[in-house]
Amino acid sequence: MIEKKIVVLVSGGGTNLQALINAEKAGELGNGKITCVIASKADAYALTRAEKANIKTRTLIRKDYADIASYSAAMRDMLLEEQADLVVYAGFMTILDEQVCDTFKNKMINVHPALIPSFCGKGFYGLHVHEEALKKGVKVSGATVHFVTAECDAGPIILQKAVEVKEGDTPETLQKRIMEQAEWKILPLAAKLFCDGKITVKDGKTIISE
Ligand code: GAR
Repeated sequence: MIEKKIVVLVSGGGTNLQALINAEKAGELGNGKITCVIASKADAYALTRAEKANIKTRTLIRKDYADIASYSAAMRDMLLEEQADLVVYAGFMTILDEQVCDTFKNKMINVHPALIPSFCGKGFYGLHVHEEALKKGVKVSGATVHFVTAECDAGPIILQKAVEVKEGDTPETLQKRIMEQAEWKILPLAAKLFCDGKITVKDGKTIISE
């Protein structure tokens, strides 16, 4: 099968990017190859991780653009230039509009640190998600990988993994457990399934073939 170009979008520490890099090195990304990492912040540590793995890096700084529309247009052009077959949001904290979502329909995936439809949507990102889960007192949380649509965290769900919430958890300890037990596993797996042509979308839901 022809190699699929994966472009990863990042904003921060990049541990999910690292999980993808490790998976590729271990031969666990199927036909996928990470060809470029694009950061929305110049100081994102994820860029260092990409450089260490000899992956091309680019930056598209959110603050340099007046609004979401002009930022999204620039991102669409950059993704087209990179000939992305799959776009992965790996801790990418900017919501892109339909200019990108329609151009890359069912070709962009995001990892969210909760079991969607819980604790998701605008304002639910990073540690805030875990703060809200603990405030509510849920006994189980987890992570979700889904296709990206213009509506935040609302696209077709691809994979989910549940993780136990423990007595005495802080947002930080819960985040760490969810990353280790769920995010770092299901994000590379979803990328592999996509690159191997195993995911179809029908009526807003995904079907995964073996
Ligand atoms: C991860 O937990 C990711 O799921 C979350 O931010 C963290 C980024 O960590 N993403 C969101 O909340 C998106 N709504 P990382 O930079 O180490 O991968």
